Amino acid sequence: MRFIIFFLLLSMPAWVMSQEGSSKYEEYILTPEPPQSPQINSTALYGLRPGTPLIYRIPCTGKRPIKFEIEDLPKGILLDEETGIMTGTIKNPGSYTMTLKAKNDHGNFSKEFTLNVGDKLALTPPMGWNSWYTHYDRISDRTMREAADQMIATGMADYGYQYVNIDDCWMMKMKSKDPDVGGKRRDKDGEIIPNKRFPNMKGMADYIHAKGLKAGIYISPGPATCASYEGSYQHEAQDAVTFAEWGFDFLKYDWCSYSKVAGKKSDPDYFIRPYRLMWDELKKQDRDIVLNLCQYGMGNVWEWGGDVGNCWRTTGDLGLEEHKNLPGFYSIGLSNARHAKYAIPGGWNDPDYILIGWVGDAHGMAEGTPTDLAPWEQYSYMSMWSLMAAPLIFSGDMAKLDKFTLNVLCNNEVIEVNQDPLGKQAILHEKTNQQFIMVKPMVDGSLAVGIFNLKDGVQEISIKWDQLQITGNKRVRDLWRQKDLGVFSDHFTTEIQPHGVSMIRIFNE
Ligand code: GAL
Repeated sequence: MRFIIFFLLLSMPAWVMSQEGSSKYEEYILTPEPPQSPQINSTALYGLRPGTPLIYRIPCTGKRPIKFEIEDLPKGILLDEETGIMTGTIKNPGSYTMTLKAKNDHGNFSKEFTLNVGDKLALTPPMGWNSWYTHYDRISDRTMREAADQMIATGMADYGYQYVNIDDCWMMKMKSKDPDVGGKRRDKDGEIIPNKRFPNMKGMADYIHAKGLKAGIYISPGPATCASYEGSYQHEAQDAVTFAEWGFDFLKYDWCSYSKVAGKKSDPDYFIRPYRLMWDELKKQDRDIVLNLCQYGMGNVWEWGGDVGNCWRTTGDLGLEEHKNLPGFYSIGLSNARHAKYAIPGGWNDPDYILIGWVGDAHGMAEGTPTDLAPWEQYSYMSMWSLMAAPLIFSGDMAKLDKFTLNVLCNNEVIEVNQDPLGKQAILHEKTNQQFIMVKPMVDGSLAVGIFNLKDGVQEISIKWDQLQITGNKRVRDLWRQKDLGVFSDHFTTEIQPHGVSMIRIFNE
């Protein structure tokens, strides 16, 4: 019966689905409910610079109240035992391994965690939320604070989501008559002036930090941003100081109008120059600010992005990508997959945001409507991003998260693939018009594998151990359902839904 309904849904026109919303997909939920006992979903590895402030809320599911404890807590770091928020600084570079512990009435859990104090940030892909595809030029201080509240209330923070990032449109706008955003864009000293919807940037970042989360900001190296708001051109050093003083932890630096001032394209530094400049300025701050390059993959950014940033967009905007036979995340994802060898801890290929739940059409910067992606397409999307060690930044509406969307965003075994400390991006194999597989080596020697069905109908797909260059008995686990499927000796066959995925992990027996 379930399957019949599923196929009826798939054959419905997209508008029928969007009218009804994605909450009706509850019967396609695969991720099991987390146990009542604590389960720490923290990454194993975290990068911090010497002497800069740490804010880290231990991601942990289970029934609150939970009591947190840390064994071998390094000097300089404090833990709030009720919230699990770690704060403080570590002066000396080095690797500090500790045991995170969580306890409630139902049980306890412990997990090893290493703070790597050095010059590298984002040792695993950043996870969080960005305002663009929901709020566009309607974004305000209030919405940002609410997004932070929702990140805690929905439980997303318990799975590792931690950045609350504002995108374009927080500054004053060029030539605007709107009293909220029109007017002087910098003060007499050149300090950037946020628009009237952002009366207190520092207060907003403090609010986000008080929850143990991190705050992100956006600007362009050009004179104007893509939406024609004030850019950083010729104010780079000053803006870096301002962002650090306000308390931001992440900067998306978007090329936009920079072409107008970039000089000659034949200059070998043409693409890298603005990013190197901001990277150097950010390093001078006594805050850790992750730098996200956004320039749509120009100049083979994957070859040099890691020298001047922590992640780099490899393509144009996913929200503008056409839905042909397949939804746009497939073409964007497959394009991103080509650069797998450049991903390393601290430097990630970025195929843009996770657009599910309620999302506004980027063409008209529209108000949100429920995604028209079918349930299995959403599982494919999240599987691809996890396998590709892509930043996991959700950009749908935080206020309208339903159970199905949360089940896609918050499966700890799927996220573990994304956050694996080895930091390898999956390699694309066996790509045809009908299917492909992605294979990601994990730190424990297991393989995370996505088997993707590009056909409009159900398809049975087999993978042979030869194709994966493995031999012998292997335990296969279904990651979405969090269920062992058995021991297989030389191949694995499974039936996969239209445009869907089987995401498995293959362990040595
Ligand atoms: C685009 C960028 C988007 C969004 C937008 C804001 O260039 O790729 O992610 O930031 O600008 O105007």
